[in-house]
Amino acid sequence: MPGLIPQEIIDQVHERTNIVEVVSNYLPLKRSGSNFKTLCPFHHEKTPSFMVNPSKQIWHCFGCGLGGNAFSFVMKYENLEFPQAIKLLAKKAGVEIPEFSPQAGARQSLNKNLYRINELAANYFHNNLLNQQMGKLARQYLKKRGITEEIVGKFRLGFSLNLWDGFLKFAGSKGEKEEFLKQAGLIIPKRKGGFYDRFRNRLIFPIFDLQGRVIGFGGRVLNNDLPKYINSPETALFNKSRCLYGLNLVREYFREKEYLIVVEGYMDNITLYRAGIRNTVATLGTALTSEHARMLKRYVSSIVIIYDADQAGEAASLRGLDILIEEGLRVRIVRLTEGSDPDSYLINKGKEDFEKRIKQSQDLFSYKLDLLIAKYDADKLEEQAEIIAEMLPTIARVNNAVLRNGYIRRLAKRLSVNESSIMVELKKIKNKKFSYSRPLVKQEFNSKIAVNPEERVIVQLMLEGPELAASIKDDLILEDFENPELKEIAAVIFKLITENKPVEPSQIINYLKDNKTAQLISELSASTIIAGYETSAEDDDLLDKKRLVADCINKMKTKSLRRTRLFLQRKIKMAEQSRNVNEQMRLLNEFQSLIGKV
Ligand code: CTP
Ligand code: MN
Repeated sequence: MPGLIPQEIIDQVHERTNIVEVVSNYLPLKRSGSNFKTLCPFHHEKTPSFMVNPSKQIWHCFGCGLGGNAFSFVMKYENLEFPQAIKLLAKKAGVEIPEFSPQAGARQSLNKNLYRINELAANYFHNNLLNQQMGKLARQYLKKRGITEEIVGKFRLGFSLNLWDGFLKFAGSKGEKEEFLKQAGLIIPKRKGGFYDRFRNRLIFPIFDLQGRVIGFGGRVLNNDLPKYINSPETALFNKSRCLYGLNLVREYFREKEYLIVVEGYMDNITLYRAGIRNTVATLGTALTSEHARMLKRYVSSIVIIYDADQAGEAASLRGLDILIEEGLRVRIVRLTEGSDPDSYLINKGKEDFEKRIKQSQDLFSYKLDLLIAKYDADKLEEQAEIIAEMLPTIARVNNAVLRNGYIRRLAKRLSVNESSIMVELKKIKNKKFSYSRPLVKQEFNSKIAVNPEERVIVQLMLEGPELAASIKDDLILEDFENPELKEIAAVIFKLITENKPVEPSQIINYLKDNKTAQLISELSASTIIAGYETSAEDDDLLDKKRLVADCINKMKTKSLRRTRLFLQRKIKMAEQSRNVNEQMRLLNEFQSLIGKV
């Protein structure tokens, strides 16, 4: 599980993190006995079955079976990988994560240079725009488009002068090296040596990351020249398919709205913001990627796409759709009247009309179907089949069976075809591999792993406390476990005991490779009823537990012996077949001595 982050650091973060605090940052927790309860954020439910156990520092949902420690919660909730989750919690806990690989060190120092240069450039462009003389034309242009000074400040808009070396000279005077300016994408090498400015005579839109740092720029001409926009190239900081313009500003608003609006352009984003519609981000002309979708999902479960009402806009939204469903986002789409984009529509028709459009947004199913019906002739059989074929990948990605069947019914009705024939076609494509990179249906963890009850109980008891765990360790060896997951957990517990480290469920999870195993830990330490062995609170004294331990160990030893005997028998047979008499005798002796033991 641990990636590049050293185990000591993970331990430190773990020690200083309280699961109750972590979870209550996201969910309202109610005390229930020694635990806390709330509605599970990972599945739909009306009565709370999501439990947080402060003494064991774990969470578990008895409804959907998910569970883990503080790290796994943050990973799941924020949709982060393990190292990112550690980083987030480390920050909260005040633990510093050292960068220790040489590449990471070099990368970090390059990034530092690029952030500084981008900041310098943003200021330079911004000051140009504010400059009485040099910024005059650009300011006139902005005014024409209704952009106020306040907005210029909020988005830190700027202007690049009509020079080949405006920024180049400025940055040079500040002691910046050309190499870094080039790596920041702000200057371009000339064929005959030397460099020139990438952005010349353009309105500048700085692009920010979530922390508000400048990672790149877009530049628009002030007239109708082409290309209308140029953007920073891909750099160590900037990647268009991972960037959502305006997301840094949205962070303050997303809790008020249950959805985010996705538009295509800088200007769309700014105009909506200006009108007070602040739950908006822009994809900067690219199609929505699954990275975008995952970023969006950290804030909302539902988005409204408002692309330009042109061919390009429609194609872009169609491509984006399936990715979004795959990521489990609810998607609605607003179709604007032909020829307008969100910016021009809002300016021409006003906010009220615009918001009415949002209310009337279509779900993506109807949207896609409408487009296809307009594209094909639904009266012709072959073209009907074509429509269905294009709708099926979308339908197949809908995880919810009720919803999926509803869509099939609607499609059948709309085209006047038989539902069951659509079902047949759907089955066909479900068996095929999709051209998308991610699996069609995300594999959720299977919580109820079939395990030997006594092995389960032993692990459960070891999780109860170090005293019991240590005494169990004295009597058992790892080979006594049959179930691989429980064996892995036991191995970690044994290791922790040997290393004199605390044996805590949430700590153990950090050492497990497999998510399924981590799941099992939370399940085991959360359940009070031990499978096959009903225990009550009064039963809870050590004496009874010792008896239970002895009982379980006995069973495990017997079974383990039986497994070994079976194994030996098989080997004896093999030796017999290969006429290896010596080996056969040795195995027989071993077998005999085992029988004596029972
Ligand atoms: N875009 C780009 N390069 C281009 C054209 C467009 O990167 N040559 C990106 C920009 O991020 C732009 C978005 O695609 O904001 C949408 O393009 P478009 O609709 O043409 O621009 P608008 O944002 O509507 O800009 P404006 O209203 O100023 O025309
Ligand atoms: Mn546009």
